[in-house]
Amino acid sequence: PSIDEIVNLHDFEAVAKAILPPKAWAYYSSASDDEITIRENRAAYQRIWFRPRVLRDVSVVNWSTTILGYKSSLPVYISATALGKLGHPDGELNLTRAAGKHGVIQMIPTLASCSFDEIVDAAVPNQTLFLQLYVNRDREITKRYVQHAEKRGVKALFITVDAPQLGRREKDMRMKFVDEGGVAKVQEGDSGVKKDEGVARAISSFIDPSLSWKDIPWFKSITNMHIVLKGVATPADALMAYDYGLSGIVLSNHGGRQLDTARSGVENLIDIVAALKTRGPWPNPRFAIFVDGGVRRASDVLKAIALGASAVGVGRAFMYSFCAYGQEGVEKAFQIFRDELEMNMRLIGARSIDELTPDLVDASGLHAH
Ligand code: FNR
Repeated sequence: PSIDEIVNLHDFEAVAKAILPPKAWAYYSSASDDEITIRENRAAYQRIWFRPRVLRDVSVVNWSTTILGYKSSLPVYISATALGKLGHPDGELNLTRAAGKHGVIQMIPTLASCSFDEIVDAAVPNQTLFLQLYVNRDREITKRYVQHAEKRGVKALFITVDAPQLGRREKDMRMKFVDEGGVAKVQEGDSGVKKDEGVARAISSFIDPSLSWKDIPWFKSITNMHIVLKGVATPADALMAYDYGLSGIVLSNHGGRQLDTARSGVENLIDIVAALKTRGPWPNPRFAIFVDGGVRRASDVLKAIALGASAVGVGRAFMYSFCAYGQEGVEKAFQIFRDELEMNMRLIGARSIDELTPDLVDASGLHAH
């Protein structure tokens, strides 16, 4: 279908499924084991209901915000998704160019298909970029990578902590890994490609499962970038991140690709905000909570923010938008978010991101309330 026929973010997924080679579709769409968590990521949002306020003069609504202190035209950032060239020849550059044009923040994946420098070179001046980090067994490689990123102007480091071993994504594992040239940019220090276990496992053997809280001071010593832990799920770990002096956490289950039957990020949000309130008033200017997983509608974004998140990450929806239509697809995805944000904010009576407060949602359908 032509891009003009795309009405919502689900439509990109349908197009991507129809046009992608089976191997790419398997890698992108798969989740771990029985794929229960990936379904739950969508379902959790459907258990949260709005309690709209009326008669608030919503002629002007504004959804721009700041993320870790950096301006963002949307309360949404592009979360890291590996191997963009499996789905489109320009890979991650589709995201970088669209994000630069529209003032959206992109998190660059360690396992991007394009090189880190190619991505940064595609950014416009002062475009805000974050970096997702898989920590290498060889810490010198990680140190060089992080310090190079900081030198090139990256503003925040999102250390992925929910993947000491890659989840078993069975759809992907059934596809044999074949390097078709320039697709998998395997990180320096990888001990070699295991060709029989799918794309994900083939590219991830460098990741260090010994990573622990003891490493956090070292990260703080090698960089002045914000450090955020991506993949936190409990109040106990949220408080540790806070007490270690980090800048924030992402409540994430890696899009259902790691621990299956892990709860969704938005479901964990209420308990975690309550725990952090024991450290001071919320929102706390020195610590941000982000949520990702299953976000496909602006209403999802507004619910997470109302419950205490600073902003929300989106993985697959943006990825599918460029698989289907390249950079233009990503720009269209931003436009869909804008249109939906405008309508939903008017209908719930919130004129700005600051006005998204817990009283605007009924979260009694979640496990903790
Ligand atoms: C991911 N995600 C991910 N996360 C990460 O920290 N490092 C990575 O390399 C990847 N790669 C990756 C590839 C693909 C194909 C997907 C779908 C996801 C997880 C990603 O950052 C994010 O947490 C989820 O995608 C959010 O869920 P949704 O938006 O895809 O439902």
